[in-house]
Amino acid sequence: MIEPKEFARRRRQLMRMAGNDAIVIVAAAPERVRNNDAHYPYRQDSDFHYLSGFAEPDAVLVLVPGRAASETILFCRERDRERERWDGPRAGTEGAIAAHGMDDAFPIDDIDDILPGLIEGRTRVYYHFGRDTEFDLKLIGWVNRVRALVRQGAKPPHEFVALSHLLHDLRLYKSRGELRLMRKAAKIAAGAHVRAMRAARPGMNEHEVEAEFLHAFRSNDAVPSYEPIVGGGANGCVLHYRANNAPLRDGDLLLIDAGAEYQCYASDITRTFPVNGRFSPEQRSLYDIVLAAQLAGIDEVRAGRTFDAYHDAAVRTITRGLIKLGLLEGSVERNLREHTYRKFYMHKTGHWLGLDVHDVGDYRIDGEFRVLEPGMVVTVEPGIYIAPDQKGVPARFRGIGIRIEDDVVVTDGDPEVISAGAPKDPDAIEALMARQ
Ligand code: GLY
Ligand code: MN
Ligand code: MN
Repeated sequence: MIEPKEFARRRRQLMRMAGNDAIVIVAAAPERVRNNDAHYPYRQDSDFHYLSGFAEPDAVLVLVPGRAASETILFCRERDRERERWDGPRAGTEGAIAAHGMDDAFPIDDIDDILPGLIEGRTRVYYHFGRDTEFDLKLIGWVNRVRALVRQGAKPPHEFVALSHLLHDLRLYKSRGELRLMRKAAKIAAGAHVRAMRAARPGMNEHEVEAEFLHAFRSNDAVPSYEPIVGGGANGCVLHYRANNAPLRDGDLLLIDAGAEYQCYASDITRTFPVNGRFSPEQRSLYDIVLAAQLAGIDEVRAGRTFDAYHDAAVRTITRGLIKLGLLEGSVERNLREHTYRKFYMHKTGHWLGLDVHDVGDYRIDGEFRVLEPGMVVTVEPGIYIAPDQKGVPARFRGIGIRIEDDVVVTDGDPEVISAGAPKDPDAIEALMARQ
């Protein structure tokens, strides 16, 4: 669990960066309708969570750096005996102060009356424009209320700044507490992949294997961090395959990309293994290339290396392997220059990981890939995908899709692979699947 004092520290850091003439406004995620009167499971907005730890909808966090009376203010739902009988407990304004360390809290219904007064006199407004149109309009309304009072001496803000520049740079560096939760999220997901390897067999359906993940996640108080991809055979070549409803065939591989979210922190793991427990020679030769590329990539996840170094290492290893196997022709350098590998490997080797699966933070600074620093977390996920109708490839390789994805922490020393609990060594996978 992240302690209230860590949330307070984040708010202080952000206020220091924003400056004493600024105001920061962050809204909670709205509840979203799935169909008729049924809602999607509620998930707090990652930025709002990062700064408050407050899990309810209908809330707005306002930071007013340097304000004497109170710097951190939460607008939230009031306690309501009747509503709480239906929907469960609410923190209320008292809880916002007592349990969440806010300096002050007001009912969300009073925001129209109070927020313009907090905006007045502040030069800059830090806010996520364009994320929630309804809230954008409300903010314009509050600012206009201040503008309407200029003749009476009110000072409206004259600068509107994207909050993401400051906040997302903070989120990129994970604290010890965050890393603890990320290790747990990865451990839960790795355990689920092991469960799936044990359960899978020819004749089962992809959705039955997906069920293993849901069981493992919910048993550990986690939820999926994104829709799992469970693709047997050629379905593994469909990068965003989500149908998860085809039968698993003897002799096919099964590609599973599934991660857990634990206390709002995501893991993101892919494993590919034979449905019948034994790799064919063709599957194994391609698998060995992907694994070598992944290990070469992980070895570049080190402080001081640039973000693109691990992608380059993976691409080079894949290109070399495909030439050796006869699927590409010519020199490694020429194939790299001409991007011929993109026929078989068409995505990047990874992304930031954190509260969001594709976590926030700039990949480049002034056009140059940024340098990795301790506390950053990335995925390393090379793959090879040979479409069933791929031309110029021997038939025995067609319809094979392989990806191996781990979650890796940049440290002062060696890369820390936090998803290592799911085997990826092909012999280890076969051994695990043989032990039923
Ligand atoms: N599961 C999403 C990704 O691998 O990026
Ligand atoms: Mn993934
Ligand atoms: Mn990923």
